[in-house]
Amino acid sequence: MSDGYYNFKKTDDICDEVCGQQASRAALTMSRLRCMLREYDIRTCAFLFMVIPLFIFGVYLHGQKITYFLRPLWESPPKPFHEIPHYYHENVTMETLCNLHGWKIRESPRRVFDAVLFSNEIDILALRWNELYPYITQFVLLESNSTFTSLPKPLLFASNRQQFKFMEPRLTYGMIGGRFRKGENPFVEEAYQRVALDQLLRIAGIEDDDLLIMSDVDEIPSAHTINLLRWCDDIPPVIHLQLRNYLYSFEYHVDNKSWRASVHRYKTGETRYAHYRQADIILSDSGWHCSFCFRYISEFIFKMKAYSHTDRVRFSHYLDVKRIQDVICRGADLFDMLPEEYTFKEIIGKMGPIPRSYSGVYLPAYLLNNAEKYKYLLPGKCKRETG
Ligand SMILES: *[C@@H]1O[C@H](CO)[C@@H](O)[C@H](O)[C@H]1NC(C)=O
Ligand SMILES: *[C@@H]1O[C@H](CO)[C@@H](O)[C@H](O)[C@H]1NC(C)=O
Ligand SMILES: *[C@@H]1O[C@H](CO)[C@@H](O)[C@H](O)[C@H]1NC(C)=O
Repeated sequence: MSDGYYNFKKTDDICDEVCGQQASRAALTMSRLRCMLREYDIRTCAFLFMVIPLFIFGVYLHGQKITYFLRPLWESPPKPFHEIPHYYHENVTMETLCNLHGWKIRESPRRVFDAVLFSNEIDILALRWNELYPYITQFVLLESNSTFTSLPKPLLFASNRQQFKFMEPRLTYGMIGGRFRKGENPFVEEAYQRVALDQLLRIAGIEDDDLLIMSDVDEIPSAHTINLLRWCDDIPPVIHLQLRNYLYSFEYHVDNKSWRASVHRYKTGETRYAHYRQADIILSDSGWHCSFCFRYISEFIFKMKAYSHTDRVRFSHYLDVKRIQDVICRGADLFDMLPEEYTFKEIIGKMGPIPRSYSGVYLPAYLLNNAEKYKYLLPGKCKRETG
């Protein structure tokens, strides 16, 4: 800095000398121009030596942000879903509800299978299973001793199984050994585990026209949504569920655009367990998607490392316990990234921390009935235990 200042000073002196001389107008103009150029040269040098390295360092730190921000330029949004209205009130009969959706009521409800690949979200699993319990024929759960990114993982469900004794008769549990292929794309291991889940479903006794819920553990359909779909005839063969997106807890309501969960009328030989888009129809407001809703900071660290997009942990300080706690309480982003959206308007609208929600009105009943145990999921309780 001081060097730069000194250089500028010196040029000024030189210029003063030149410019101070009496001369013809033309010469004066020429020398002024030369002074300007000289100054311009030095500025250019300063620019090259200071600004460019800073710029490169900035790109190194924020390169991902830049590509995310420019995403609307190189990627267009997927075809929008056909969103169908969803009606519900506890005092309206099932027949009326089916009719409101343009469907007819059945004489008896369909059987329903809920199948998940389990990683480590034991509390969210408890919310899910208690929410859905009245309407599910068989809960199918598969866990592996490997994460999708080929890290060894303890069999957390197996060691917490006694907590779910109440639904043991409705449980089909499977364990699959990881293949531990180093450097393989995590999506390959994920696909391998989903195929195993298909086999486990057949073991659980699924048949044609039974309903099958395909979703991650943290994508929780509301009980009344599943009740509606099992009671009504003529529902679409595959229907996605639109869920409210939450991050860290029900305090941070991100948006209403979660769409990956789906419900299928099972067809032997055709239905394959998947977690991508499989139809154009989506049922509005059908439940909750609570991402990174963990009790312990250690679980956040585990999930951040096990995440299929491992390239997101770019700096080791991202895994620092104090930083993670601070990020949770601010509603900021764990990976310090920009929102993944398709238009500039949405990216800019979602920049910065997620606004707090103080509403506990439309939440899973089991959560409110056990508020003390799960208080970290409620508004105003962002502090986590280290674990
Ligand atoms: C629901 O129906 C019951 C019995 O008919 C009635 O007492 C109650 O007030 C109704 N609740 C609402 C919210 O309309
Ligand atoms: C994972 O499970 C498989 C099958 O039970 C076993 O052979 C393998 O040793 C286990 N690997 C680890 C790292 O626990
Ligand atoms: C989500 O949808 C509900 C009900 O339609 C609405 O009240 C709420 O404001 C929406 N929230 C966000 C964050 O978009």
